[in-house]
Amino acid sequence: MTPQAVLAQPFTLPNGQVIKNRLFKSAMSEALSDRTCVATPELARLYGAWADGGIGLCVTGNVMIDKRALGEPGNVVIEDDSHLPALKAWAQAATRNGTQCWVQLNHPGKQSPKGLNKETVSPSAVPFRPEMKMMFATPRELTEAEIHGLIQRFANAAAIVKKAGFTGVQIHGAHGYLVSQFLSPHHNRRNDAWGGTPEKRRRFVLEVYRAMREQVGPDFAIGIKLNSADFQRGGFTEEESLDTIRALADAGIDLVEISGGTYEAPAMTGVKASKEPVKESTRQREAYFLAFAEKARKAVKTPLVVTGGFRSVRGMADAISSGAVDFVGLARALAIEPDVPKRLLAGQEPREQVRPLKTGISFVDKTGLMEVSWYTGQLKRIGRGQAPKPRESALWVFVKIMAQQAGLGRKKAPKRLRAT
Ligand SMILES: Cc1cc2nc3c(=O)[nH]c(=O)nc-3n(C[C@H](O)[C@H](O)[C@H](O)COP(=O)(O)O)c2cc1C
Repeated sequence: MTPQAVLAQPFTLPNGQVIKNRLFKSAMSEALSDRTCVATPELARLYGAWADGGIGLCVTGNVMIDKRALGEPGNVVIEDDSHLPALKAWAQAATRNGTQCWVQLNHPGKQSPKGLNKETVSPSAVPFRPEMKMMFATPRELTEAEIHGLIQRFANAAAIVKKAGFTGVQIHGAHGYLVSQFLSPHHNRRNDAWGGTPEKRRRFVLEVYRAMREQVGPDFAIGIKLNSADFQRGGFTEEESLDTIRALADAGIDLVEISGGTYEAPAMTGVKASKEPVKESTRQREAYFLAFAEKARKAVKTPLVVTGGFRSVRGMADAISSGAVDFVGLARALAIEPDVPKRLLAGQEPREQVRPLKTGISFVDKTGLMEVSWYTGQLKRIGRGQAPKPRESALWVFVKIMAQQAGLGRKKAPKRLRAT
């Protein structure tokens, strides 16, 4: 079979949902809500571009479940159905051209920059490592009642996502946010029903899944993005991740997307926690977490996606043909070339290559935070109807952000979506 034929195969999820090809857009936070955290027409335009570009399954950037807990400025928040028309307009654009579109639901926990929320919460009051303390506050420990409240918020948001016309939800269980904090022995030091053993640390994510399922019924897709590991001393390990995948599979999860890392060790975009060189086998196979996906494949029958590092038609097709995964997850490639699926499905290489972003300022380049800002800028351009700028200077973008934060920039609030 040619690589393009491999990628073009449809796939039926266990719940009966048909995905038209094996290309999966992984979540990218768009920072495109209005000042009241409501979806804007720019979001609909951006997702329309991806739908028209041929992606099979598209996951939105993280949408928050609690207005008191934003992860970044510009997050959409879903707390009730008072802004359903805006969500409906977004869903309508995102699901055209036979595209499945799932909303990623998230709570940042402690991983939210200082000044954005009144306070930050987490399973335990564990501080960040010294270099990060300037940007992130030590969180307050969640109470038992608050934990139950958050589970209900995830479930309620999932019900509204379904009502809006999206075709599924994805729990953000990766990258060091709240669900991932509960799973991690480093961040979760509790000794009650929510921590102390791997089973108890898994309870939060399993209860979130069950509460969502109760709200959306058996046929609506619920997936999860999960870390293969945190790459942090004393953190979530591969063994615990495999056990969590097994438990979620038994509970009935429809799809597992594999990633890795946290803000403190940003492995998800290929920034390495250790100084060891990248293994030749990883370089050849492109994807950062494929070896772990092979282990997950042996552990469960649930459909799998691996995200991070895919760059060529051959790399993507080989990952599917190897049987390790059912879909290939792509993020940054779609921010600089929204219709790249069309080329991949025709057997052509991407026009634009994802390249390392360097400002030349060592502490900025080490954290990986510039990646998000630079790519978010590209998403905003597409949302405004402009072409992305794949060769925009990282240093220039950094200077612009600094100027904006110092109050020198002019910031226009995007308009709200109107009902159609
Ligand atoms: C601008 C930007 C925003 C991101 N936002 C999210 C997010 O909201 N949720 C998430 O799970 N991952 C997020 N990620 C991580 C990506 O989904 C993906 O795991 C990572 O970029 C590696 O895939 P790639 O090599 O194909 O880019 C983001 C990445 C970027 C560049």
